[in-house]
Amino acid sequence: MSKADIGLIGLAVMGQNLVLNMNDHGFTVAVFNRTVSKVDKFMESGAKGTKVIGTRSLEELVNSLKSPRRVMLMVQAGKPVDEFIDMLIPLLDKGDIIIDGGNSNYNDSIRRTAYLESKGLLFVGTGVSGGEEGARNGPSIMPGGSIAAWDHVKPIFQSVAAKVSRPDGGEDPCCDWVGEDGAGHYIKMVHNGIEYGDMQLISEAYHLMRDGLGMTHEEMQATFAEWNTGKLDSYLIEITRDILGYKDEDGQALVEKILDAAEQKGTGKWTGISALDMGIPLTLVVEAVLARALSSIKDERESASKVLTGPQPAITGDKQAFLNDLREALYASKIISYTQGYMLFRAAAKEYNWNLNYGGIALMWRGGCIIRSVFLGKIKEAFDNNPALPNLLLDPYFKEQMLSAQAAWRRVVAQAVQQGIPVPTMSSALAFFDGYRSSSLPANLLQAQRDYFGAHTYQRIDKPRGEYFHTNWTGHGGDVTSTVWKKD
Ligand code: 6PG
Repeated sequence: MSKADIGLIGLAVMGQNLVLNMNDHGFTVAVFNRTVSKVDKFMESGAKGTKVIGTRSLEELVNSLKSPRRVMLMVQAGKPVDEFIDMLIPLLDKGDIIIDGGNSNYNDSIRRTAYLESKGLLFVGTGVSGGEEGARNGPSIMPGGSIAAWDHVKPIFQSVAAKVSRPDGGEDPCCDWVGEDGAGHYIKMVHNGIEYGDMQLISEAYHLMRDGLGMTHEEMQATFAEWNTGKLDSYLIEITRDILGYKDEDGQALVEKILDAAEQKGTGKWTGISALDMGIPLTLVVEAVLARALSSIKDERESASKVLTGPQPAITGDKQAFLNDLREALYASKIISYTQGYMLFRAAAKEYNWNLNYGGIALMWRGGCIIRSVFLGKIKEAFDNNPALPNLLLDPYFKEQMLSAQAAWRRVVAQAVQQGIPVPTMSSALAFFDGYRSSSLPANLLQAQRDYFGAHTYQRIDKPRGEYFHTNWTGHGGDVTSTVWKKD
């Protein structure tokens, strides 16, 4: 029997669709699933008439593979990945490759890379984004791990990945090598964090339209449809357009029958934890995670709504003018979210010694993934124009967008606040923008407070950085003195 090009373990929807995508691109895929009956079912249905090889044991799977063997895991993140790794190690030869395509935590991928390389094997931890449709027809794939594995997985991954056209008429795959050990899963994690942010921003715009402007679902659908033809053109705007137009059997908008309590598997939270650990102001994504948490206490909010009254929302005046403002506020907030995401990338690259290709990441996200958008092409251009760009806001295009959008953005946030409509991500993005562009912030008072109650010392603007002072603010217990010393 001809040897398979790659093995895939885990025949849930994502796994099955990835197998069929690989098969469509001429690769022979051997498949296995812990519940073996799922293999038979797949072979009799989705894989019927394809070159896919069904196997009923790990030994059979491994023995069906060309060398160096490539075994891809599409199983639940966490323990199942380690269990399969431990079962596979004794069956593999040096130089064989284990690929984890699940939403694994990047810390686990750092550990797994070192562990498998210590066994003479290679590990690839790759983000795969785009849901079922992406897996079937072209996901964004973000591989990292053992660089020696890249040449062996590149042909398969870049064949099945989504493609974006180049100005010269050619096409680029939305897949390239991200970096060492956990870099691939880190980028996927940040993708998901930004996804949370984009989804929350869109939900806030919908909230303002529905409760502030009193728009019908047809009007909201038409607005998102129009936005999807301009600079907000993106998958999430597109699906929002479709969702708002979707009627239940009774002709009512289905979206209004869905419980307003958001759930989350955790990748957005991981992104926020990483930012907090490294001291990066990833305010928008964290607000998006917290907005989900607030929405999830539905019963408590129901009770509170009967006690804590506020304004009855009613945004009056020129509706189209407000919608134009809202479009600008959404776009400016999106720029802030991606700016913060790239600040996080820089910090992570330094922390974990990764060589990240910032423009390449934008290209990988340009197609196939959930946050795919025209906007990402602008980020790619920004880094093409200046690979050493210190911050996206300083790129000429984005700078211009921010300066021209801010008046509209302020009007929208002010209206939302006045009308009692919560816009945590739109407003926190504006607060970040105002903070980032301020040379003077009130942290001097905060340093004084810390020194007052905890003698935590402070630096002075009229002394060299690194010289620290303490003041005996109360004057009790000795003179009012400032002790100067240099912190290491
Ligand atoms: C993707 C999606 C995918 C998954 C989300 C859901 O990139 O294809 O992001 O990974 O649908 O992780 O995440 P939550 O359940 O946390 O919203």
